[in-house]
Amino acid sequence: MGSQSFETTTAFETLRCVDCDEHHDPAVVTHQCPDCGGILDPSYDLSGVELTAEELATRPFDSMWRYEELLPFPRETAVSLGEGATPLLACPSLAEEMGVEAVYLKDEGRNPTGTFKDRGQSAAVTAAAGHGADSVALNSAGNAGQAAAAYAARADLAAHVFLPDRAGFTQKAMTEIHGADLRVADGEITDAGDAYWETTAAADEEWYSTKTFVTPYRHDGKKTMGHEIAEQLGFESPDAVVYPTGGGVGLLGVHKGVGEFRDLGLVDDRPALYAAQAEGCAPVVDAWESGATRHEAVPATEIDTACNGIAVPDPGASPLLLDAIDESGGGAVATPDRAILDAAVTVARSEGIEVGATCAAAVSGAFELAERGVFGDDDTVVLLNTGAGNKDVDTLRAHVGERETA
Ligand SMILES: Cc1ncc(COP(=O)(O)O)c(C=O)c1O
Ligand SMILES: [Zn+2]
Repeated sequence: MGSQSFETTTAFETLRCVDCDEHHDPAVVTHQCPDCGGILDPSYDLSGVELTAEELATRPFDSMWRYEELLPFPRETAVSLGEGATPLLACPSLAEEMGVEAVYLKDEGRNPTGTFKDRGQSAAVTAAAGHGADSVALNSAGNAGQAAAAYAARADLAAHVFLPDRAGFTQKAMTEIHGADLRVADGEITDAGDAYWETTAAADEEWYSTKTFVTPYRHDGKKTMGHEIAEQLGFESPDAVVYPTGGGVGLLGVHKGVGEFRDLGLVDDRPALYAAQAEGCAPVVDAWESGATRHEAVPATEIDTACNGIAVPDPGASPLLLDAIDESGGGAVATPDRAILDAAVTVARSEGIEVGATCAAAVSGAFELAERGVFGDDDTVVLLNTGAGNKDVDTLRAHVGERETA
């Protein structure tokens, strides 16, 4: 790998290790901290950034790269399929049911491969291309693998994608249709992770990882969800954001993104962040409720949820997540699959919006939080619909069928 064409934006200064606080040169260091193996976070000097509401209003709402100054790489070098710039849809029926001023759904299903994973892969594959990689590799629950296959194809790189067998048909099929090398592991995302590590270690050439928190760039791409939400609300931070949480990349991204807008004076505050999980795999919620600073892994035999994207039993970045939730004044909530799938059907019927089974955990989580009296009646609540309903159509249809015959 070479670094000759590795171009960065002016404000992007270093990669900061979240564990040992050492700073590293992004032209040289590609993945985790060379000193301690910790997660690296792109660190920006915003003092020279002049991004105003007026300036943003002159830019077309066409992709996440319109926030170029706050991203690691210049837009002209981006490996892009027009990701981001998704609608924020008002959901008046949900607002009424939850007893709040407004509910909005950030519809990430409108992304090129149908999920918010496109934002992270656009940033990470841009880094891979800039570092002169020939191929990218990752394990994923499904959607990130499909996204990586698409962006690798766009950048003319090979892709090696490790998915658990429970990943959906669409994700597996599209990964192969994009020309990636698909490997399916028996079991869970952690088993796909084991296969990934064993195979990459034995590979002849270097595979550039675009795996969660192994590359420093996925949460940085996803922070544009935070930028967009704030801009779409007229440069106001919502009171609460409820996010279907697996590895927590998107939640940390939203926290970072709105934080940058606050530091630039574009918004006054940050939203309270709520991690929503399925009861059948809720390590972050369990840790939050017990006051722990990191999660305990859920044993594979105890995972019991149809929500594939958040069936993440061992989210390595949980200390960061728990910190962000705490700092934001938010919380964590788990709901049973039945309530989650019901919520997807409710949104499809009352608002006309197609919500993925995984994503519906945010909707049922918000219902539960409303029930517990967490929201105020003048609150604005944003729910992340991280992926399109048609990604999980089998699960949703089976649920509707069961309800009708019950
Ligand atoms: C649709 C969907 N939502 C949410 C998640 C969880 O993502 P995160 O790692 O950001 O918590 C995933 C991950 O696979 C997903 O596919
Ligand atoms: Zn370190």
